[in-house]
Amino acid sequence: MRKILVTGGAGFIGSNFVHHLILNTDYLVTVLDKLTYAANPRSLESLPHNRVRLVVGDICDAAVVDPLVAETDIVVHFAAESHNDNSLHDPRPFLDTNIVGTYTLIEAARRYSTRFHHVSTDEVYGDLELGDPQRFTEDTPYNPSSPYSSTKAGSDLLVKAWIRSFGLQATISNCSNNYGPYQHVEKFIPRQITNILDGVRPKLYGSGANVRDWIHADDHSSAVLRIIERGRIGETYLIGADGEMSNRDVVSLILKALDQPKDAFDLVADRPGHDLRYAIDSSKLRAELEWVPAYGRFEEGLEAAVEWYRSNEDWWRPQKQATEAKYQEQGQ
Ligand code: NAD
Ligand code: TYD
Repeated sequence: MRKILVTGGAGFIGSNFVHHLILNTDYLVTVLDKLTYAANPRSLESLPHNRVRLVVGDICDAAVVDPLVAETDIVVHFAAESHNDNSLHDPRPFLDTNIVGTYTLIEAARRYSTRFHHVSTDEVYGDLELGDPQRFTEDTPYNPSSPYSSTKAGSDLLVKAWIRSFGLQATISNCSNNYGPYQHVEKFIPRQITNILDGVRPKLYGSGANVRDWIHADDHSSAVLRIIERGRIGETYLIGADGEMSNRDVVSLILKALDQPKDAFDLVADRPGHDLRYAIDSSKLRAELEWVPAYGRFEEGLEAAVEWYRSNEDWWRPQKQATEAKYQEQGQ
């Protein structure tokens, strides 16, 4: 059976990807995860133990990474420090994990000639104006705004250089904002859902006019699987599902799904350097690899996510208080 190493597989998108692999492939999965505050090993507990193994370790540690890369057929690299707000207050872990961690993995992949897929974000391209017909494509120049997005951009550039200079057998994907089950309550959508469930009003940064392009994490997973199976080595693919919506409209939908008045939210201090709008043109992935997202309408996927948080309080409750205490310190 084919072996796959999934870094960051105890985090939000990584765990969704492992669920997707178990349902749709016969891969034997090894998850390498440091179990930072962002991880929740419970996200993997319902999966068959004969198909999924969790190794707790740091992607910056070559002694841990090397033997795992040596024994696998492919590496799919999700592990990262992923939250913009955290990166504004303490950038250092972002440099370590996103830059040095990626370097450590691609050096191992080079050594063992292992197929490598690097998971990245559309935030490497900076932001777009509201109402601009333009969307990000694979040719958009890099222009990251935050410590998070700049370290992700750095990691993408390392992978590109290793492809060109050392013939690394790699692909890269840059995806838009994900939502779905198993997302940490620090992120926008789960934070607002769980606030409302706790009787707290949602908090919108600035005017709430910022636009994100939402995709369900399972659609991100199906796209990554398609790229590792059919993508051309050396190529970058943008992943998106035409889900542009302002933060204000997202909050209105969440309020509606939870039977609250649609204006029951508060505006709070804006995020410094807050990117205005992201939008993905995923036509390369759709045309070349015949990928289509399964979640047709964002509204339906969002309602399902609201229901998931309502039914899985035991999953998110342990992180809620510490997360809100951190936001309170930052005035958000
Ligand atoms: P997450 O924060 O939920 O999970 C990250 C996981 O990586 C955690 O389980 C954490 O323990 C692990 N990790 C962190 N540092 C590590 C280290 N040094 N060694 C080993 N494991 C470590 O993140 P996510 O939202 O699931 O994002 C996963 C990937 O997808 C990231 O690379 C991110 O840049 C990318 N991405 C995220 C989004 C999004 O909307 N969340 C969109 C596009 C791309
Ligand atoms: P986030 O989930 O942090 O993702 P990203 O920064 O990668 O886009 O935030 C999504 C959007 O929601 C972003 O425009 C910031 C905004 N936001 C709020 O308005 N309120 C909040 O409490 C949070 C966490 C985010």
